[in-house]
Order: sequence, then C-alpha cells, then structure tokens
Amino acid sequence: MTQEFKINDDDLVIIQNHAYKLSNLPADLKFQLVQKLQSNNDQAYTKPDISKIFNLNDFEPIAQKLLTPETYAYYRTGAEDEITLRENQKAFKRIYFKPRVLKSVSKISLETSVLGSYSSLPFYITAFHGASFDGNNEGELPLAKSAGKYDLIQMIPGLSTIPLKQQVQSHGNVEVDQWLQVYLRESFDEVLEKIKKAEETGKIKAIFFTVDVAQLGRREHESRIRDRSDYVKVPQLASDLNWDDLIKIRQSTNLKIILKGIQSVEDAIKSVELGFEGFVISNHGGRQLDTTRSSIEVLGEIVPELKKRNLYHKTEILIDGGVRRGSDIIKALALGAKSVGLGRPFLYALQTYGEEGISKVIDILREELTITLKLLGVVKLEELNETFVDTIDLYRNRA
Ligand SMILES: Cc1cc2nc3c(=O)[nH]c(=O)nc-3n(C[C@H](O)[C@H](O)[C@H](O)COP(=O)(O)O)c2cc1C
Repeated sequence: MTQEFKINDDDLVIIQNHAYKLSNLPADLKFQLVQKLQSNNDQAYTKPDISKIFNLNDFEPIAQKLLTPETYAYYRTGAEDEITLRENQKAFKRIYFKPRVLKSVSKISLETSVLGSYSSLPFYITAFHGASFDGNNEGELPLAKSAGKYDLIQMIPGLSTIPLKQQVQSHGNVEVDQWLQVYLRESFDEVLEKIKKAEETGKIKAIFFTVDVAQLGRREHESRIRDRSDYVKVPQLASDLNWDDLIKIRQSTNLKIILKGIQSVEDAIKSVELGFEGFVISNHGGRQLDTTRSSIEVLGEIVPELKKRNLYHKTEILIDGGVRRGSDIIKALALGAKSVGLGRPFLYALQTYGEEGISKVIDILREELTITLKLLGVVKLEELNETFVDTIDLYRNRA
C-alpha cells in the first residue's frame, strides 16, 4: 500500500541507505525521489534545530545524512590510511594548559591583526573546493558574506564557482582583507592574470600559493564511493613547480605572497630567507601525503628553530588542520601561530544550515575562545606564549 508523506524541502530522504537533501536536488530528480520514497515506504529525515548544535563536531553527522554519499566522501576523505587526517585533531588533545589564576579577566579582547589586516577573532575561513556541490548554487557567497559581517578574513579558493568580484562584493567589509588561494596548475601567464585580477579588487591583499599538490594524494575513502582514477593527472606545472617559480611570481606583484603547505623546518627557514611574507603550516587537511605529522606538532618544532635564527619576527605563521575548538586555536597561538584556518567545519556548516550555520560556527568559537582565555588568566592574545601549554605528550603517543 502506498503511504502518503508530507515532505518539506529541507528534509532528507534516505533511499537504499543513501541520503538526499531535497532542496539541493534538481527538480526532475527531486520528483523521482519523492515518487520513490512514497512507493518504497522509506523514512524522511528532518535535521535538528540549529539550537541543538553545541560544538563544531555536531555538524558532520548531519552533513553525512544531508549530502549525497559522493559529496560527503569528497569532503571527509583523507589520504590512504588517514593517519594524518586523524592526527591533525588528536594532537591538539595531547597539549595541556597551564593556567594562571587571580588575574582580572572581566574584560578580554580576541581581536588581532594578521598580515596587516584587522580580524575580530584569531581564525579565518580557509580555502576549499566544493562549496557548490549538491546543488548549492550560492557556492562560496555565504562564506564571504558571513566573514564580512563578523570582521573575519576569508581565503577565497582558486577553484571557486562564484566569480572573484562577487565574492569580494559579498564580503564588503572595508576594514578587513580577503586573501586568494592559487594553484599553479595553468600556464604562468594565467597565474599572473589571476594575480592581476586580485590586485584590481583592491581588497585582496595576499596570495596563498598551495605548494603541497605536486601530486594529488591517494584518497581511498573517496575512491570507494566515487571514481577518482584521475589522481596522477595533475597538470605538469604543479608537478614541476619549484622555488625559482615562486621567486619570479614574488617579483611580479606587490601583494603579499604566502606559501600554503609548509611541513618542515628546512622549508620554513627557506621561505623566510627568500622574503615571503608568511607561510601556512598545513598538510591539506590530511588529504595529501599520509603519515605526515599533524600541523600543530610541526608548529611546535618550527617556531623555536626560527627564533634561534632570529627569523621568527620576520614572518607570520598560520596553521590549519584539525582545528575544532576555541581551545585548539589558543594552543596554536601559544605555540607561535598568528592565526588559524578552518576548513571542514565551515564546509559542513554551510551545507547543512547555510549562512546560519556559518554564524553558528563563529559564535561557538567566539564563546569557546572567551572561556578558554578567561580560565587561562589571559586578557589579550599577545600575552599568550609557550609557558601556557604543556607539550610533553605532543611528541609521544601518536596514532
Ligand atoms: C573538501 C576540501 C577541499 C579542499 N580544497 C582545497 C583547495 O582547493 N585548495 C587548497 O589550497 N586547499 C584545499 N583544501 C585544504 C584546506 O584549505 C585546509 O588545508 C584543510 O581543510 C584544513 O583542515 P580541516 O579541514 O581539518 O580544517 C581542501 C580541503 C577540503 C576538506
């Protein structure tokens, strides 16, 4: 017997163990699914009210239900055995705090300045491809808009679906910069053209070159769900990219040039000595070379080495990978990072609750940052240093 269902656009339908969010589907597919749902007697899933979201990890299981299996697998995947993917998050939990008491902490500030730009909070929305998957026609726009509204920096992905100008307009905050992430995949001329377009916006103040994709990582989790037989087909320029290329690019623009994907003391030193304005310690969210160390562990190693050589104050160090709590951010700042990027939490929030979801991520992090700072006995972010953290276990008990 066919059962009658009342189905809302926001509902998830689960058909043969695959979940589909109705509003994200093209009309014809939606019709087919509703038909199928009614005839198969399957269930409908309604996502929880956003008030039921308590921390950043709460978004992922909802995204898993709302997104097509292919899209969820693309977002979630790490490389090979996913050791680095897991380590990124776990390593933060091996760092313990050493708080100070009896400090007046009724008024604290979370403001900072990153690469010359004001930021109301010490984190930014990092660049990721895929915001427009599963029919999200607004693509990156809600990210740009929310960043602008909250005085936050957004790194625009090179592989965006929304044109650069539109993302800049959507951010629209004159006090806060935006950055552009660039892959060296095309010809040099095309890269220089991209930089020129970024310069013309007047708002993009730094170019982040992703330097960890000479070869795409082997993302098995994703391959099991969708065909990724194109792994080795990375454009030649990306595979042959070297320091001289980056120096040439450095000379072609006045924008700041930042290297995204540094994972060793040797490369960190080289990048400062060659005059790049900063670097991001990143393993691409565990999607590239598996069993590289967590980003926070690498930070803890690089900073003392730069200080020893008097290079630390000549650069700005950013970090991304596995940041899920305000306390993770504070640990990174205490170990010498200037700001911290988040990828998947924003992506999952975007694909489950849209702009409201992004606001929720920012609000949760602000609250967690405030509480952590007060309980540490710190009033301003500049007060943070390595004496506030115990890192003895950071280099032990790895996954
Ligand atoms: C789905 C997805 C797509 C990504 N696409 C890009 C990209 O196009 N360019 C890039 O430099 N990094 C990309 N990254 C890496 C992120 O910029 C960032 O390094 C990573 O997501 C940080 O880890 P987290 O997701 O644990 O916060 C991507 C990450 C994910 C999860």
